[in-house]
Amino acid sequence: MSKVTVIGAGNVGATVANVLAHKDIVKEIVLVDIVGDLARGKALDTWQQAPIDNYSTFLTGTSDYKDTANSDIVVITAGIPRKPGMSRDDLISTNANIVISVVKSVLEYSKNPIIIVVSNPLDVMTYAAFKASGLDRSRVFGMAGVLDTARYRAFLASELKVSPKDIQALLLGGHGDTMVPLPRYTTVSGIPVTELIEPDVLNAIVDRTKSGGGELVKLMGTSAWYAPGAAAAQMVEAIVKDENRIFPVCAHLNGQYGLKDIFVGVPVKLGKNGIESIIELKLNNDEKALLQESANAVKEVMDVFDKM
Ligand code: NAI
Ligand code: 2OP
Repeated sequence: MSKVTVIGAGNVGATVANVLAHKDIVKEIVLVDIVGDLARGKALDTWQQAPIDNYSTFLTGTSDYKDTANSDIVVITAGIPRKPGMSRDDLISTNANIVISVVKSVLEYSKNPIIIVVSNPLDVMTYAAFKASGLDRSRVFGMAGVLDTARYRAFLASELKVSPKDIQALLLGGHGDTMVPLPRYTTVSGIPVTELIEPDVLNAIVDRTKSGGGELVKLMGTSAWYAPGAAAAQMVEAIVKDENRIFPVCAHLNGQYGLKDIFVGVPVKLGKNGIESIIELKLNNDEKALLQESANAVKEVMDVFDKM
């Protein structure tokens, strides 16, 4: 049974801990925040939910990294979220410093954890965590694609008036407005979505997906947490249960898709060792161009980080 540490006990971190506890698949969750009482309070609240919802996962909150010792998986949500009018990239310098210091503190007490980054700007924060950690690329990756495809699937389910469970979809690229939802790899219980939805309606759904995070920031004055938290918890589940699930994940590419030394969303197989393999799709020219455009956008922010 695993020990999972979640850094950042704000909206997303607390949701990751809460959703993961409900899955009852890990022995212990440690919630860490620079505001120790916040972490302690949210951990205690979720532990007090255990008798009601029937799970045994034990939760504690702390601001002391000693309590995270020997974590198998660490989810990093620490940082500031977007406010209206901000892009994810506006968060870069504040969150990069936070992510780097968090990774260093984690590694003082856990030798070879799997690290899942959630903090934004996601692709570059994952790159920052990877560089700061010195861990193998299979063990440091980011959560974005599970959330972005969930948004895409939810919009498709609303349009078709079908269960979102029956919608399978893939998406590539950075976690930003250049992300690349892939209608050619989207099916509804095996039926190609292109046979069910007119092209202009499908294009509108793809566009809404790309700005799905911003839509929620406008509505709530801060960024989303329920679906993001559940998405990160689903990735933890795939690892803990060694499920070999195929998810779009922000991964380090080393030549795949013609891209080198960049973190960007691609389909991977997720199992007990983290990224077990990266799956290379046979993209058509349009899809390749969109992925390249998205990779260029990520690279620009990576360069900003490298010069910091
Ligand atoms: P939040 O403000 O509710 O929580 C962030 C928490 O991090 C706060 O409790 C804060 O005290 C803590 N924190 C700050 N510095 C810290 C440090 N050095 N060590 C430990 N804890 C620290 O923000 P929220 O909504 O939970 O978002 C967290 C991050 O996740 C943001 O960067 C946001 O943009 C990102 N995000 C990413 C998504 C994705 O798809 N990858 C989706 C949603 C949010
Ligand atoms: C989201 O997509 C802001 O990355 C955050 O909701």
